[in-house]
Amino acid sequence: MMIDKILKECSSPFYLYNEERIKDKISFLNNLDLQFQRKFNFAVKANPNLAILNLIHRCGFGAEVVSAGELFKSLKAGFEPSDIIFDGPGKTEFDLKYAITQKINSINVENVEEIKFINDYSLTKGLRTNIGIRINPNIDGSTMDKITTGLSGGKFGISIDQIDFDAISNFKGINLKTLSVHIGSQITDYQKLLGSYENLIKIADEQNLKNNINIDTLDFGGGFAVLDHSNKKINFESWKDNCNKILEGKNFNIIFEPGRFIVADSCELISKVLYIKESGEKKIAIVDCSFSEYIRPALYDIKPPIKVANSSKKTGIYDIAGGICESTDYFVKDIELPEIKVGDNIIFMNVGAYGSSMSSTYNSRPRPLEVLYNNDEYRVIRSRDTLEDLCKNEIM
Ligand SMILES: Cc1ncc(COP(=O)(O)O)c(C=O)c1O
Repeated sequence: MMIDKILKECSSPFYLYNEERIKDKISFLNNLDLQFQRKFNFAVKANPNLAILNLIHRCGFGAEVVSAGELFKSLKAGFEPSDIIFDGPGKTEFDLKYAITQKINSINVENVEEIKFINDYSLTKGLRTNIGIRINPNIDGSTMDKITTGLSGGKFGISIDQIDFDAISNFKGINLKTLSVHIGSQITDYQKLLGSYENLIKIADEQNLKNNINIDTLDFGGGFAVLDHSNKKINFESWKDNCNKILEGKNFNIIFEPGRFIVADSCELISKVLYIKESGEKKIAIVDCSFSEYIRPALYDIKPPIKVANSSKKTGIYDIAGGICESTDYFVKDIELPEIKVGDNIIFMNVGAYGSSMSSTYNSRPRPLEVLYNNDEYRVIRSRDTLEDLCKNEIM
């Protein structure tokens, strides 16, 4: 089998992506019976590997970026500027100038000051830049506190009472055509998403009546859950029916920005057990990856689903830890698994989103190999850092 071949031929740790799985997730969204004009723009922050981006581009998605780096990589991966949206609460002048001159689909502003800067810089370049405004709807996504983004008091979006639509309509260097919202990640309650969509529709309808403004696009953000250790899923049937209902008779282009949903469960992080340590009452399997390669368990307290590649009938209770010199460097504690031996592969699942993209070289660990496979073949889509790479750009 392909996986056995890869496990034999590639040395751990490495990220292993299933191409068919990504295509299936994209087809699932593309084939939903949504009865309105829409486009899916992949949230590049979830996984910015060029091969993954190129695959997603070839499946007809656009891109959602939050930095000049993500914009550069998206263009390199094949996305057209007209299929790219730029979000983010802390865009630098460099980010904004790059996005303006690339003439992308929309720069969604999250600070009122961005509006004037985009206007003025666009005029110096003889351009009129399409912008959107990310609204802070003050809606709780009912997800983990650390990944909720729609509440007042947070740094995301702009509260409606701070937006001077009249002034914006008079700026000659910008064209406000989008309103956007994104209330967080890992959302399982589709009603929360719908609440944020309805809020946006209402604001757009009101502004289109009152001002010299034509908001023709609503960007509903991402947030569809792929849960790590629970079976609770978003009810897409009801979500779809309700989207169709609230958009009936409306004429907006709708954008969705799914990241996690597209790639999370396409990827496993393959590690190997280096040591089994008895410590007090505990049995700890120390593996050859760590929070440098997968930080979500340490950062968000999530428990990644885990497989052990052996067929032992006996089980044991283990803590699974990485080799970083930090006491938070555990993947999971007190988990019952088939009895583990040194050299066994421990496989962390659902690592495709915010896995490699949030990895670092902390403890000067080379970032791992990334491998993409389909039914016929596998290929390396990122080589492992060399020791020299770890010194790149440093000056002694
Ligand atoms: C503006 C915006 N859109 C889309 C996403 C993607 O979210 P998810 O990966 O949960 O779909 C994010 C994630 O942070 C975001 O900030």
